[in-house]
Amino acid sequence: MAILEVKDVNFSYGDKELYRHVCMKINPGEHCVLVGSNGAGKTTLLNLIVQDLRPDAGTITWEPHVTFSYLDQQLKVKNDMRTIEYLYGVYEPLFQKEKRMEDLYAEASLGGDNYEVLLDKAMRLGDELQQSDFYSLQEKVGRLTDGLGFDKSDLEKPLAILSSGQREKAYLAKMLLEEKDVLLMDEPTNFLDAIQVAWLSSYLRSYQKAFLVVSHDEAFLETIADVVFCLENQTITRYKGGFEAYLVQHELDKEQNAKNYAAQQRYIKKEEDFIAKHIVRATSAKAAKSHRARLNHLERLEPPGKEAPSVFFSFPFTHDVGEKPLIVEDLSIGYDGEPLLDGISFLLKKGEKIAILGQNGVGKTTFLKTILGKIPALEGGFRFLDGTVINEYGQDEYVDLNLSPFEYILSFYPMMSNTEIRTCLGKVGVRKELAMRPMKELSGGEVTKARFALMTLRKSNFLVFDEPTNHLDQKAKDALFDAIARFPGAVILVSHERDFYDGLVDYEMHF
Ligand SMILES: Nc1ncnc2c1ncn2[C@@H]1O[C@H](COP(=O)(O)OP(=O)(O)OP(=O)(O)O)[C@@H](O)[C@H]1O
Ligand SMILES: [Mg+2]
Repeated sequence: MAILEVKDVNFSYGDKELYRHVCMKINPGEHCVLVGSNGAGKTTLLNLIVQDLRPDAGTITWEPHVTFSYLDQQLKVKNDMRTIEYLYGVYEPLFQKEKRMEDLYAEASLGGDNYEVLLDKAMRLGDELQQSDFYSLQEKVGRLTDGLGFDKSDLEKPLAILSSGQREKAYLAKMLLEEKDVLLMDEPTNFLDAIQVAWLSSYLRSYQKAFLVVSHDEAFLETIADVVFCLENQTITRYKGGFEAYLVQHELDKEQNAKNYAAQQRYIKKEEDFIAKHIVRATSAKAAKSHRARLNHLERLEPPGKEAPSVFFSFPFTHDVGEKPLIVEDLSIGYDGEPLLDGISFLLKKGEKIAILGQNGVGKTTFLKTILGKIPALEGGFRFLDGTVINEYGQDEYVDLNLSPFEYILSFYPMMSNTEIRTCLGKVGVRKELAMRPMKELSGGEVTKARFALMTLRKSNFLVFDEPTNHLDQKAKDALFDAIARFPGAVILVSHERDFYDGLVDYEMHF
């Protein structure tokens, strides 16, 4: 029996219909992924599954006693707790058992009459603890926190002062320790670096229970998926097998659907012509009527998928500044006089594009902040040629999500006309009513596209991106790749997605 069954579910936001009679089942231990373009309704589906939202029609049924945990964007935990306490909190019942056992031993040692009974009870609790792997907890927690890149000092910090990425990771770690029957995760790789993504992939691969993961990271999907659910045109199709197999079969299905649809349209046209011609003739009106009845009963095929809106990015170029737009010499970076990295030296030549790689926390974002002048260098220096104009995409830049994409652009460019703003947003795939709705009601990908829309308005000769592919679907990533490839100026890119920067940059720099 399925542990989760979504049956005939309909759901709309206003007049935007997200699902029509959607069905989906997850069986025990099944490793599932959910894919679909930005705004298709993946996050909304997870919210329906965890019952934060209710469907307009249909049912979502969990098998009794099945447990699940959900990694979403809004983390709700008591923030003053130390990270390590938060993680060990998972095992609170075991610690209580240990305490009971110790109390029993202590009581038994007093040598009362019932000391054998007490000892017996204590030993039984000890066995139970052993069976629950209580004595290897430290090792287990340690393996997880190492895998996710926490160092000892992070674990001692209260959750409240961790960076948002680290907090997400603490939550992820907790969820993995809890080992619920089903893990639900919405884009878990967004806050991980390449090494951690690899670690999470192999962790999930060998996870004994079920999961449903939403992601746009194809390399990640390839390693974790045994079942692919594809959300497209308001329906979900289930593909058994890995992600590669899904891609092949999905392409074939698309072709076949288009052929079937075209064939049915030809048939309908022929029948309609027949009916129109004969219905007015006394001799053949009867036949025409029976054709009409048959046509009325025909189950009409859906037209082949309306393609997701096209996406086009372009970063306007100002002018050339010279042969070596950036020289970095023996640069030391860090905070409060504490170097994170030192001795960074390199030279970026005209039109050169580089990817900076390295683990979370190694200092990639700190490096970018330093050369962008947001924090001081500790030692050494860097020099941009005069006339360099930088256009940047920061990782966690503050965006007021109460604004609509339209108001967001207008707040930077008050002189732009309505049409200009709508056109600019339209190009990046934020169309019609999406452009006018508060961004807190948009999908992750839609908000990211609005941020890129702003970048397409700034003329520059130097682009800097910090993890630009997070939230973007494949189509948008391809469009971003093309836009960066076409840009004649210099580019510095921090990204954990090899599939994205491979073939785009001239070289990689490992921090
Ligand atoms: N509260 C809301 N009110 C109105 N529309 C909404 C609301 N929340 C989401 N939407 C719309 O519903 C659609 C589906 O959103 P959802 O967040 O589920 O997409 P998604 O598939 O997760 O996309 P992404 O890949 O970008 O994360 C989007 O077009 C979004 O703008
Ligand atoms: Mg989403």
